[in-house]
Amino acid sequence: MAADKPKFRSQDVYGRPDRDGFIHRSWMKSEGLPDDVFDGRPVIGICNTWSELTPCNAHLRELADYVKRGVWEAGGLPLEFPAMSLGETQMRPTTMLFRNLLAMEVEESIRGNPIDGVVLLGGCDKTTPGQLMGAASVDLPTIVVSSGPMLNGKYRGCDIGSGTAVWKFSEAVRAGEMKLTDFMAAESGMSRSPGTCMTMGTASTFACLVEAMGLALPYNATIPAVDARRRVLAHQSGRAIVAAVKADLRLSQILTRAALENAICTIAAIGGSTNAVLHLLAIAGRLGLPLNLTDFDRLSSDIPLLVDLQPSGQYLMEDFHYAGGLPAALKQIASKLHLDAPTVAGCKLGDIIAESECFNETVIRAFDHPVRTESGIWVLHGNLCPGGAIMKPSAAGETLYHHRGRAVVFETIEDYKAKMDDPDLDVDKDCILVLKGCGPKGYPGMPEVGNLPLPRKLLAQGVKDMVRISDARMSGTAFGTVILHVTPESDAGGPLAIVKTGDEITLNGPERSLTLQLSDQDIAARLTEWRMNRPSQRYKRGYYQLYVEHVLQADKGCDLDFLVGSSGSTVVRESH
Ligand code: FES
Repeated sequence: MAADKPKFRSQDVYGRPDRDGFIHRSWMKSEGLPDDVFDGRPVIGICNTWSELTPCNAHLRELADYVKRGVWEAGGLPLEFPAMSLGETQMRPTTMLFRNLLAMEVEESIRGNPIDGVVLLGGCDKTTPGQLMGAASVDLPTIVVSSGPMLNGKYRGCDIGSGTAVWKFSEAVRAGEMKLTDFMAAESGMSRSPGTCMTMGTASTFACLVEAMGLALPYNATIPAVDARRRVLAHQSGRAIVAAVKADLRLSQILTRAALENAICTIAAIGGSTNAVLHLLAIAGRLGLPLNLTDFDRLSSDIPLLVDLQPSGQYLMEDFHYAGGLPAALKQIASKLHLDAPTVAGCKLGDIIAESECFNETVIRAFDHPVRTESGIWVLHGNLCPGGAIMKPSAAGETLYHHRGRAVVFETIEDYKAKMDDPDLDVDKDCILVLKGCGPKGYPGMPEVGNLPLPRKLLAQGVKDMVRISDARMSGTAFGTVILHVTPESDAGGPLAIVKTGDEITLNGPERSLTLQLSDQDIAARLTEWRMNRPSQRYKRGYYQLYVEHVLQADKGCDLDFLVGSSGSTVVRESH
């Protein structure tokens, strides 16, 4: 009966027999759409971050066509729209500066347009989190289709991983262990297909988290970008979003506190990127869900590293997929997960896990045969980071988990780059490198420079790791004993601002402490002096000014303060 047919949001626009309805429909018909597609069927927006300036997402226009197939087939009307694309390897000063801008664009595009559900097409590091933040503030039925990882990199008969190989090779060149011509030759072999970095970098991590949170169909994270099965997944996602709209299955019903906890457990099992901490905190803020830094440590610290992928291990995303993909890894930590969490596949997470199988126990380890016992995210506290700092133990050197050393301080990353090859730099292997000015406000945008390259003179001595501390982030593909996201950042007047070369610092990872060996009185006196000489705000216009004045600190996910929370999907005023 007609009375039983659900009335979707888009009908407020397309279902009207008046002047405004004429306007809304008539111009859409210029795209070749027939009358009957405005008959009350679900309208599905496909939010596409395709761009030739984002190589990881360069195939998403083609993938969108497969989503459309599924939407049409299920009786919906697919309408694709673009969103700002953030190419991690191309944009300066850092894509993190623009994640919130993407989120604003996505939020207003979804709310302002006559769509009933949305498919988020993204992959490169900031695109998926930015899209999800925006979508969360509207709360329509939502599904993610990720770019998928690149094929494994190849160089001289060996597999090499995105990013991870770059960091290793560039240090080898600086240490005189690799010829520059060989370094340059590795470029083409490393990136040989569309798709995201095929290490467990930020993009792979977030694709895994999206899948673990039930926001994407099974195996979304691991099917290679160019594998035909990704097209099938896109097609099936088109069907699934129509079903989700018909069931009024909104994002907030999937993305719950339980889903966030599942994501945090997943970070540990896969050796996921520290960047995921920021993005999950920001997304939780959009949905009004309680989540804080200590949740990451509490939920992940008893889960070992089970997926043997670079940078914490040795294999790559193709290997992960062929070994059984994320569901097979989640099976190993099933007792830690909320198995009754709903998914966009229409079943519970536990149902997906139950059907999974591991085909290679070298890549996906059993719980009691882990790659490494220490994994997850360590959240450090102490007088150097009153708001917390984080460390990824699976990517760090165990011998440096507990370390006391003399600080060698750099006020900016440019300052460090200018000095790192200086043979007269007063540094030894036991020193702690301290970098300031790289937080959300300070850089601005919190770049991925926390994994400072080691000083050349130490590389020449065979040093492979040192403790490094900063208010910056680190690429998910990077490794080392690197303490990140020091909060408050130096530009916000955190104690990091007053550390001087020669100060002693103690890291005690197992006890989660980071201590500047100064008295409270000395710290207070230095901070008073710092405030008197504090530099004035450098940015006087545009998005940079908006960002610097409103960005939250890392322990809150670096969202803009006025974007926290949601406004729903209602639009009450007409356009004409
Ligand atoms: Fe795009 Fe790594 S640069 S995912």
